[in-house]
Amino acid sequence: MPRFSVAEASLWGCQFVQFLQDTGREQTSLRETLRTIYNQEFRGRTEARTPNFSCMLFALRTTHQVQVRGDLVKFKVKRHVVVADQYRRPRSNAQTSVATSASGQQLSSTPQMPQRYAKQWAELIRGKHGVEITSDYDQGNGNIRFPVVPGEPRTVAVLVQNRGTEVVTLQRFQAQQQARELSFTDEQGAVQGQSLLLHPGGMYPIQARCLTTCNGHFSAVVSFEFTKEPDVSFSISRYVAAIAESQLAKDLGPSAPFQPYEASLQRHVTVITEDGIPPDSSLKNELEREIPLGTYQYPKSLKDTILLGPNTSASSSWAAMRSLLEAPLQAENYYQKFQLLLHLEEIQMEVDIRRYDMQDVTMVQERALLVLDVPGVAENRPSLLRGDHLFAHLSSERDHSPLVRYKGYVHSVELDRVRLGFSSKLQKKFVKNLKFDVTFTFSRLPLQVQHRAVVLAVRPGLSSLLFPSASCHKSLFSGPFQPRWFNRKLETNEEQCKAVTHIVTGVSRPAPYLIFGPPGTGKTVTVVEAIKQVWTCFKDAHILACAPSNSAADLLCQCIIKDIAPQNVYRLIASSRSYREVPTDIRPCCNWDDEQSSYVYPSKERLSHYRIIITTLVTAGRSEELGLSPASVAGGPRAALQPGCGSRPSGTQLGGVGGGQAAAGTSLLCGRMRVKGRRGRMARWGRMLRTASLRLSSRLVSAGFAPGFFSHVFIDECGHAVEPESVVAVAGLLAPMDEENNPSGGQLVLAGDPKQLGPVLTSPLAIQYGLGTSLLERLMLHNPLYQKSSGGYNPQFITKLLWNYRSHEAILRIPNELFYDNELKVCRSNGLDIRNLFCTWEELPKKGFPIIFHGVCGEDQREAKSPSFFNTAEIEVLVHYLKRLLQSRGRGSCPSVSPKEIGIISPYRKQVEKIRKAITCLDPDLQELPDISQLKVGSVEEFQGQERQVILISTVRSCSTYLQFDQTFRLGFLKNPKRLNVAITRAKALLIVVGNPTVLSKDHHWLRFLRYCKEQGGYTGYPFEEEGTAEDRLANDLQALQLRV
Ligand SMILES: Nc1ncnc2c1ncn2[C@@H]1O[C@H](COP(=O)(O)OP(=O)(O)OP(=O)(O)O)[C@@H](O)[C@H]1O
Ligand SMILES: [Mg+2]
Repeated sequence: MPRFSVAEASLWGCQFVQFLQDTGREQTSLRETLRTIYNQEFRGRTEARTPNFSCMLFALRTTHQVQVRGDLVKFKVKRHVVVADQYRRPRSNAQTSVATSASGQQLSSTPQMPQRYAKQWAELIRGKHGVEITSDYDQGNGNIRFPVVPGEPRTVAVLVQNRGTEVVTLQRFQAQQQARELSFTDEQGAVQGQSLLLHPGGMYPIQARCLTTCNGHFSAVVSFEFTKEPDVSFSISRYVAAIAESQLAKDLGPSAPFQPYEASLQRHVTVITEDGIPPDSSLKNELEREIPLGTYQYPKSLKDTILLGPNTSASSSWAAMRSLLEAPLQAENYYQKFQLLLHLEEIQMEVDIRRYDMQDVTMVQERALLVLDVPGVAENRPSLLRGDHLFAHLSSERDHSPLVRYKGYVHSVELDRVRLGFSSKLQKKFVKNLKFDVTFTFSRLPLQVQHRAVVLAVRPGLSSLLFPSASCHKSLFSGPFQPRWFNRKLETNEEQCKAVTHIVTGVSRPAPYLIFGPPGTGKTVTVVEAIKQVWTCFKDAHILACAPSNSAADLLCQCIIKDIAPQNVYRLIASSRSYREVPTDIRPCCNWDDEQSSYVYPSKERLSHYRIIITTLVTAGRSEELGLSPASVAGGPRAALQPGCGSRPSGTQLGGVGGGQAAAGTSLLCGRMRVKGRRGRMARWGRMLRTASLRLSSRLVSAGFAPGFFSHVFIDECGHAVEPESVVAVAGLLAPMDEENNPSGGQLVLAGDPKQLGPVLTSPLAIQYGLGTSLLERLMLHNPLYQKSSGGYNPQFITKLLWNYRSHEAILRIPNELFYDNELKVCRSNGLDIRNLFCTWEELPKKGFPIIFHGVCGEDQREAKSPSFFNTAEIEVLVHYLKRLLQSRGRGSCPSVSPKEIGIISPYRKQVEKIRKAITCLDPDLQELPDISQLKVGSVEEFQGQERQVILISTVRSCSTYLQFDQTFRLGFLKNPKRLNVAITRAKALLIVVGNPTVLSKDHHWLRFLRYCKEQGGYTGYPFEEEGTAEDRLANDLQALQLRV
């Protein structure tokens, strides 16, 4: 009777193979050597029962995972799967935390209690020596939370009980980081330091009293310190919070207690994959694919190099990698350096995607699909779009080997749910409450198209665009350019006029033309005017207008069609973008076919009828994907594309992380990869659907337009894109100007502001070595043509715009000081100025100063399995202002403002979702307003480039201990001044910021803003005291408390 089943023994076998690989001995094949390693090293690492060597080998043979010939053993498990985290964190983190992500980051918390402290906290709250602390308001885990109403004092008792058999003395009661609204009293003076005897069976009450004038979350960590004869001292702690909230905040509260992510499923087993059913594609695709796309996989050795780090015997490869990374970027190393940087980014993305793995989750069957709740998907954590896939296996089979995993294709994403197409085999097996482990993947396609772009970029000639050294000084006009301005406002601004003139006359060519400047200085309107002038002046010009995000591309389109009839303009949108998200005014010129109810992709020939094509750059979001019709698949285009596998997050602050695996070589569930199941046409179709997931401008590259077909390429918000992304819109699409072959084309125009949001990256090495530098920024920093000399910038190549037309002077003051050296000039206007509209609004704490900072002492909350944060106390305040703005439209001192002139910005997706819910479902007055749907609520990224008369910002953070979390995951406002800059500078006439002043003041940018609001009289709400008492609520004092446990 064997002690181990074949499955169990083969699982150990797989782990042994992994151990060999991890220790660099995968080539070892002598049976006796392997036996020695197994017995002396491998088995010694675990206290668990392990099969003996022969039993393990037998199991691997039975499951066809090994070949044994005589003394030679050859393992068939080929893949060595590793995650190579470029963030080198101390190992101890991983051991002490309760729930740890693959990259070592703790992800969960009890209220106000980061996971990092979970163990210490558990010890602090534990009853000791028979002494217990109790209350009628115990919420578990040491939390005492009771409700209060503003203006009404409330007292609740916290009882100290001696249930032991010996006398104890309460030596000291201490309240740490106590909110001023909360106080503690008792009859015998224990809170004043009086010691008290507690006999067995005795009980002593301490009263917690709260009196608040406003809603909020008022808390303290209290500790009771005891002694006991002969020589014992101990302490017990509690977290006491009084909560004042409206019905709205209650309704918005957590739908379910927060559950941290499970530790990721880092196991190494043989895998059999059952293919799933991809979504149908009825898309009409006629666009040719003539330029192939390679896979551009990173070499395995690179991952090994990163894994081993700089201080090992393999450090020569590290040194080689570093020398390429440190080399200045030039035409000669352009391709190699960017390939390496993109590889580094991908390797880190593989690490980061692991944090989204789920265990023991259930799905619901809806017709032929299974529906899975993925709480973070709304904020691209992980990012999933139609056509993507994930893997699921039965939780009960978790330890099986080989493990059957099911590939599920995303058919649709609805808020936090994804509808998945799995194989019919799983459908048949499916029963209610069946538990699954889920592994996410990310798409390599954005990476692939960027790789291809940098490869195409080294073609002869493009260096005059990417490394320009001079211009040919040739104007396309024989005489002076005397335009009839579309936007007459520009006539008042000499720099804007000059920029348009230089672009239209083409005098910078082959060098690109750069327009940069702070927010609201008219970069976008200048780009748009130049596009319109080019369109008017050159009847054979073909213009490609791009931006990194859909919202910025939409904005370009909206501005262009103000003067150019929509039938001349084509806004090419990816099939994965919901048509509902497309602004109604640009719908007439976008590639949506009402009859087919789907996006269409016309042929190159038909596209060439449009002289202006507007699209997004390559990785701006996940939404630039195309679908392919089965018919076009059957046609067998010669594109040598590979199946893609997942997604990269869109540039949201939330989704600063993405990535994952799907290709065999990157799977954690590694090993023998076999695809069983639906083959033939369906599988081919699915593969082609994936291959079709190209970003649009890259799709244009694939279409192989004749060199020089596009005479002009404009990229707005260029600072938001990594250089290879921008190059996607250039390489293969724009031929540099050349007097003989391309005398009137080759104009590249880049506009942006390096001080606003930059590219979203995950790899610290890629960031360190320049992948975060946009093409615009690199040219400005390192190319002599664009440098400022004593006479200023050379307007033939670059224009710096400094007159701000957007915002009230008071709104601009701090960003101008913090980010623009006070260079930004406020443009004054004669007559009615929209920017002064709200200066007399009755809600302003100070008339004439159109900024409100409303302090709120709220609580960072999370719900269910969502990693995102929300803060209901802040939503209450937002809704209050919103109602004052919208309900009294035009009455009293409130100017008339429509919902479409109001924007609400929050850095966390969950807060965005809750604000939307409050406005559209919970507040009866707001939801009744006819045009309320036009009120935009979104992340900072969704507002980049946009403006509104009124901007409301909810900062969410109320617990400073999460700031490191934000920094690691590139979330929030506090650790990202660029995000603060963008958010504040969207407002024209009124800015309302709602946030916790004590937490925000931790950051010197916010501190400046807070002081400014206070000085100017714009501060209201929860008092802001700079000394900062409450903010260090837990983290700072826990250590001190711990010492007394
Ligand atoms: N010369 C001008 N005269 C009057 N108003 C102008 C002028 N130039 C731009 N504006 C106005 O200023 C506002 C900001 O312009 P625009 O959006 O082009 O700025 P931007 O520099 O692109 O800002 P961001 O950095 O936020 O993208 C718009 O309302 C625009 O109409
Ligand atoms: Mg702009």
